[in-house]
Amino acid sequence: MDTAYIGKSRKRVDGVKKVTGTATYVGEFKPNGLVHGYVVNSTIANGKIVAIHTNKAKLIEGVLEIFTHENLPEDLVHNVDYTDPLSPPGHPFRPLYNDNILYNGQPIALVVAESFELARYAAGLVEVEYQVEECSTDIMKNRDSATSEGVEDTAPNRGNPELAFTNAEVKIDVEYSQPRHYHNPMEPHVSIAEWDVHNKSFKIYDKVQGVNSSQKYICGIFNLNSEKVQILSPFVGGGFGSGLRPQYQLFLAAMAARELHRPVKVSLTRKQMFSFGHRPACIQNIQLGASKKGKLESIIHKAYGETSKFEKYNETIVDWSGMMYRCDHVKLEYELIPVNVYTPMDMRAPGGATGMFALECAMDELAVKANIDPLEFRLINYANKDQNEDKPYSSKELKECYRQAAEHFGWLQRQTKTIEKKDDSVLVGYGMATGCWEAMQQKSSAKAVLDSSGKLVVSSSTADIGTGTYTVMSQIAAETLGVSMMDVQFDLGDTSMPKAPIEGGSWTVSSVGSAVKAVCIKIKEQLVDLAKVSSNENLDEVSYDEVSCADGELVLPNGKSINIKKILKKAALDKIEAENTLEPEERQEQYSCYAHSCVMVEVNVDKDLGMITVPRVTSAIAGGRIINPKTAESQILGAITWGIGMALEEEGMIDDRNGRIMNANLAEYHMAVHADVQQLDVLFVEEHDDIVNPLGAKGLGEIGIVGVASAIANAVYDATGKRVRNLPITLDKILV
Ligand code: MOS
Repeated sequence: MDTAYIGKSRKRVDGVKKVTGTATYVGEFKPNGLVHGYVVNSTIANGKIVAIHTNKAKLIEGVLEIFTHENLPEDLVHNVDYTDPLSPPGHPFRPLYNDNILYNGQPIALVVAESFELARYAAGLVEVEYQVEECSTDIMKNRDSATSEGVEDTAPNRGNPELAFTNAEVKIDVEYSQPRHYHNPMEPHVSIAEWDVHNKSFKIYDKVQGVNSSQKYICGIFNLNSEKVQILSPFVGGGFGSGLRPQYQLFLAAMAARELHRPVKVSLTRKQMFSFGHRPACIQNIQLGASKKGKLESIIHKAYGETSKFEKYNETIVDWSGMMYRCDHVKLEYELIPVNVYTPMDMRAPGGATGMFALECAMDELAVKANIDPLEFRLINYANKDQNEDKPYSSKELKECYRQAAEHFGWLQRQTKTIEKKDDSVLVGYGMATGCWEAMQQKSSAKAVLDSSGKLVVSSSTADIGTGTYTVMSQIAAETLGVSMMDVQFDLGDTSMPKAPIEGGSWTVSSVGSAVKAVCIKIKEQLVDLAKVSSNENLDEVSYDEVSCADGELVLPNGKSINIKKILKKAALDKIEAENTLEPEERQEQYSCYAHSCVMVEVNVDKDLGMITVPRVTSAIAGGRIINPKTAESQILGAITWGIGMALEEEGMIDDRNGRIMNANLAEYHMAVHADVQQLDVLFVEEHDDIVNPLGAKGLGEIGIVGVASAIANAVYDATGKRVRNLPITLDKILV
């Protein structure tokens, strides 16, 4: 038995369950007496509900109740806290709270019936009269209302960027923009709530990226202690950030269940998945100046992000520009433009995917202007320290990313200068970009129970949103205690387990993984203590650190080993257990912790039709220690695919006259699918980091998308000579 699992490719431990349909997702639970809610959404973006007629719908047999702002339970109107752990400054949206309409698609009624079909039919009979007020949802048209109110500080400015820009020998002054993006996980949001009338407690199944977040939200609204609210979320069919904040279906299911004394399920349709947060539209102005030799002299980056009228959603968009490259003169600005939409939300690499898109396109533009190879240009300005904070990096193997990506892709051998043609009708272009994402660690708890049969059960209230949490946590636990993965069970997605942060920010391996490792070390220490009593070996002088675990045994410094199961047997114990909480170490504060990447792409552009395809992408990632190369590669492959969609396809289109999304379905909201993906090569660059966290792993959920859109935009320029600065780069923009 080999119990060294960290760093080895392992299939998903939940894979068989998933492909055989035995993994029960939230919407598949069927408590006794389950009834179904269907949401009615507003069709205006701003104004008031004058009347809402529910009589016709109520007459349908099997319809139990129709909830609107007119019959919202009294206790939910006063002194109620609707915030969640990620609430930005402002007032969180409160479903059915009053007659105000804040955005198009706002839930304004919940029809509850014996079946989903009945509820949906009855919902169609609800008639609403509105007093319509003017709305505006286009940030381009609303630039005048940009505000710094509620905006978090950007990284500090330095030097005299305006003067340095004026004096620079080579410069660019450009504007980039991108539209709204919608997360669109395969599994739509769904909640099933059960109310225990006697205990006055909830048991709720919720599709979410962190059960503790939903628990806080429900406790605040219904004025309950956390022991009275259990949230379960064992399997999640994709999140990408859409499940970081609790959504309205959770509130509606819980409220209806409490009022009706029946378990209530509220499942959103695909169209309704476009009726809450999205990646905000963004406008970015960048001025870059350099010397003729390519030394960056000035960086001025200003971003305008979209937000709602009721919350100030913040992303870190411009700070990357101050950090990435060596430059003495930097100015960073960020403002928000409130429009009549729902509050935007974090979406895969929030802010990073956006800010690095503009920066890395601008770097390419300046390199071309200075007549320097874009890779060389980045090396000239390479930063060994975090330029914003003047701190060393805990590790930064970005140079090695550049080198390996270039070698694998054949960057230096590529055709340059003249526009290359595959044949008469296809233009070929090459582009590259740098990627970066923060390597964060959050306070996390875990519990481990080892029984005398050798089975190890480890738990933490984290989530597996498809990323492989079940698998990598099992690997970490098995290796730390030296037991077979077959004997390890990792449980998650339940508020009754030790508390974990939401699964987001690429911090789950770093945070929960480190907590899992730490709690397994505690079990090892208990085993050593037990062995000291029961073993024939003299272990009095042996310290914990000198004992390692492998192959089901404690390995002593003298080379002898003691079987773990036998230790428990000798001590006549059925099981031993440990629980602990781990926080980031203080010394981390002295370092900047980031993952880096280099993305290189080839594009082909049809000369006559403007159609763009991406035959090749190479992504070299420095993400610290890779726990499971197989699931790690899957993370990056998925993220590159998103990057292709971001560059060429994704665009949430809103009709500015009424604030309604026009392409709220997967036919018209284009995203990269299998046919858009050709050769994707992922390279993991070796990176040793014993500062970032006890595992040395930086997290890979988000780094893979950062830089991809810019590399593609840069390649499109290389192929066509056209700089398309407003995403997505659709064929019409190539042909004009
Ligand atoms: Mo991620 S946007 O933190 O789920």
